[in-house]
Amino acid sequence: MSKDKIITGLDVGSSKVACIIARKNESGPPEIIGMGKSPSRDGIKRGSVVNIKETGRAIEAAVEHAENMAKEVVNDAVKNVYASIKGIHIESQNKSGAINIGASLEKEISRDDIQRVVDIAKAIQLPADKEIIQTITKNFLVDGQSGITNPMGMEGTHLTVNVHIITGLTAATNNLIKCVNNAGFECDKLISGVIAAGEVTISQDEKKIGCVLLDMGAQTTDIAVYFDGAIQFIKEIPLGGDDITWDIAHGLGASFPIAQEVKEKYGSAVPSLVHSSEEVTYLYVDGMNQKTITKRALSDFIKPRVEEILEFVDIEIKKIKSKNMFSSGVVITGGGCQLLGMKEACENILKLPTRTGIPQNISGSVSGIADPSLSCAIGLTNYLDLLEFEEIAGQGPEKSGIFTGLKNFFNKSFG
Ligand SMILES: Nc1ncnc2c1ncn2[C@@H]1O[C@H](COP(=O)(O)OP(=O)(O)O)[C@@H](O)[C@H]1O
Ligand SMILES: [Mg+2]
Repeated sequence: MSKDKIITGLDVGSSKVACIIARKNESGPPEIIGMGKSPSRDGIKRGSVVNIKETGRAIEAAVEHAENMAKEVVNDAVKNVYASIKGIHIESQNKSGAINIGASLEKEISRDDIQRVVDIAKAIQLPADKEIIQTITKNFLVDGQSGITNPMGMEGTHLTVNVHIITGLTAATNNLIKCVNNAGFECDKLISGVIAAGEVTISQDEKKIGCVLLDMGAQTTDIAVYFDGAIQFIKEIPLGGDDITWDIAHGLGASFPIAQEVKEKYGSAVPSLVHSSEEVTYLYVDGMNQKTITKRALSDFIKPRVEEILEFVDIEIKKIKSKNMFSSGVVITGGGCQLLGMKEACENILKLPTRTGIPQNISGSVSGIADPSLSCAIGLTNYLDLLEFEEIAGQGPEKSGIFTGLKNFFNKSFG
């Protein structure tokens, strides 16, 4: 029990802040012990902070809800969080670094060596207003031997690392941290939202044979591309479910909340999936009159925007390489993936098999967590990088158990 660690994930989305509190130990999936949500539309636009006070308030409320729930299991108040970062300013690149370990053949690769080689890979030139937000170690090579996930304790003379570096605007990053601090919490880590979502929706096998993750949020659609067992590319499209909702609002003459309700209950991205004559009644924008529309006509307002978003996605993934690399297809997650017909629309436009990504490999009795709009928040609590894992495992650098633990971790199955 003493090795349990409590991790709080904070998904700062454009429609809601979602907070997940998870209890973790060395083995077994994270146990979700608290969940809270709070609306964020006044504070976040297209993934970035536009109002510090409102975002801080949303963070505070979401954490408070989650904390109250978690109190039934643990008494600790939340102090530190892992927060998601999004926004069009987020970019990424693949880099590598190499070092010589030492002359002696007995020389074992230490934690310091790993840190040193990662630091070299991270030494990139950035404009003055940008900074590195996150560095993901993809894999290592020891004396030319590839495919090594953790070289700690191995013998070798030459160590190479391949990393994925995520960068963003320093001001946008600081604004987000300010919101977390104003709500009364320390931000231990900032993690790309789509990468966090991928932690609990994409299996290691899918990452190996290649797949595309789409996190469909309210005002952003985030793409993450995996192959060779690791993240290779991320990109944000500044369009999302709210754009569909606004199209419905304009088309129907309905307020945004009414249009959203109609979309979520009766909408379809593919008109042929709904009856052409079945009618839906909604409140007109004057707040007094009821109007009707057929489900088919409603979906005619939805289809063009869904297609526009997916065509942008198609352009991005085509840039990467031949689509043969994405043999396991597309995984859609985030609230927007729940729109009827979204899977079919993806298959039509991206020409790849598509499935819905619900958070996997988690435990706990909190209800309502098998929800794709929580993938990012849950993924934040499940996010582990190489060096962090050793801290959680609580073992020294030379222990072989770390490697076993990591192997188990990386090979985790998604039953
Ligand atoms: N059942 C549903 N059908 C269609 N769209 C949905 C459904 N549930 C949620 N959404 C949409 O998902 C979006 C919110 O996704 P979410 O991931 O929670 O947003 P964010 O993380 O950007 O705050 C909204 O546009 C909402 O209307
Ligand atoms: Mg989301």
